[in-house]
Order: sequence, then C-alpha cells, then structure tokens
Amino acid sequence: MNIFGVSGSLRAASYNTALLRAALKVAPAGMDIDIYDGLREIPPYDHDLDGDEPPPAVVDLRRRIRAADGLLIATPEYNYGVPGVLKNAIDWASRPPATSPLKRKPIAVMGAAPGAFGSVRAQLSLRQSFLWTDSVLVGKPELMVFQAHLRFDGDGNLVDEQTRKLLAALLGALADLVTGH
Ligand code: FNR
Repeated sequence: MNIFGVSGSLRAASYNTALLRAALKVAPAGMDIDIYDGLREIPPYDHDLDGDEPPPAVVDLRRRIRAADGLLIATPEYNYGVPGVLKNAIDWASRPPATSPLKRKPIAVMGAAPGAFGSVRAQLSLRQSFLWTDSVLVGKPELMVFQAHLRFDGDGNLVDEQTRKLLAALLGALADLVTGH
C-alpha cells in the first residue's frame, strides 16, 4: 500500500513534517509512506496556467497523488486556517474536478501545533475542502498534536507514547479505508 505524505510546513524543524516522519516508524506492515518534498516548487494557482501544459511541479504532484492508494496530510494551523502553501497545492490537485486525482481518494488528516488546540481549526477547514473534491476521509481517530513542543525531542523524534499510539491507529484506519475494511 502506497501512501503519499504531505506536510503543510516548509520549515526544516516543522512539527508537522516530524509527525509525518514519525508515521514512517509506526506504519502497519505493508504500508509505504512517500513524503512529498516539492511543496515549495508549486507556483501560486493561476487558472491561465492550468491548461494543456500545467507547470511541471503540478504535473508531478498530480501524478504522485494519482499513483498513491491514499494520502496522509499533516497540517499546521495559520491564523485559524490551512497554510496558504498547502491550500494552494490542494487547489492545483483539485482541477479539473471530474478527473482530479483527489476524487474518491482516501485521505487521513492530522496536525500539530505548540498551542492548546493542535491545529483542529485547520483540520476542519481541510475537511471542508475535501468535501468539494469528493475525497474519502478517515473520520476517527482524530489526531491533534497539541503542545507539540512537549511531544518531540530536539531531533524531531516523536517521544510521546500516547501520540505514537494514536498515530498508529490513524494509519490503521487509513489502511482500512483503502482496503475497504
Ligand atoms: C501560527 N501559529 C498558530 N498556531 C495555532 O495553534 N493557531 C493559529 O492560528 C496559528 N497561526 C499562526 C500563523 C502563522 C503565520 C504562523 C507562522 C504560526 C503557530 C504554529 O502553530 C507554529 O508555528 C507551528 O510550529 C507551525 O507548524 P510547523 O511549522 O511546526 O509544522
């Protein structure tokens, strides 16, 4: 099972990217997670560029989403919403709606923040976008890594056992969604 992992943060010490890396360690047997490293290259959405020859970075993004059995998205929360760079990539991936690689794609959403709410508002906003794209989302468990600075060590390793268990359960639910169990 091939899962495409996307972090909505570009910074090197991102808690959300660290959460994706932690997913590699607790993934169920048979699940491979390919972590996307091209978010910075995605240009701002421009409908005029979205024709027969979209930008190469967008072609690559769409191809990788289409090839994946499911998506795992780790979103930060910026000003109570989804970071622009992540929303921008989703906007590109969502077009054209009839043949979008997001259509019917199984997706698990999670997120981390140092604050008390663990990206919950950004996650809700993402779920709303994925209604329009007709994607299929994992409902439970929900994974809001609040007070993220207490759950990762200085090297970005997830050291909180409860969070590791929840992350493993989320990946299990994504696997079930992909296989139809
Ligand atoms: C934030 N942060 C933040 N946190 C939060 O819980 N709710 C919010 O609305 C915001 N808003 C916000 C806006 C902007 C522009 C920045 C840069 C930051 C703090 C944010 O959660 C924190 O920087 C995280 O560490 C970002 O995630 P990564 O980069 O660690 O993955």
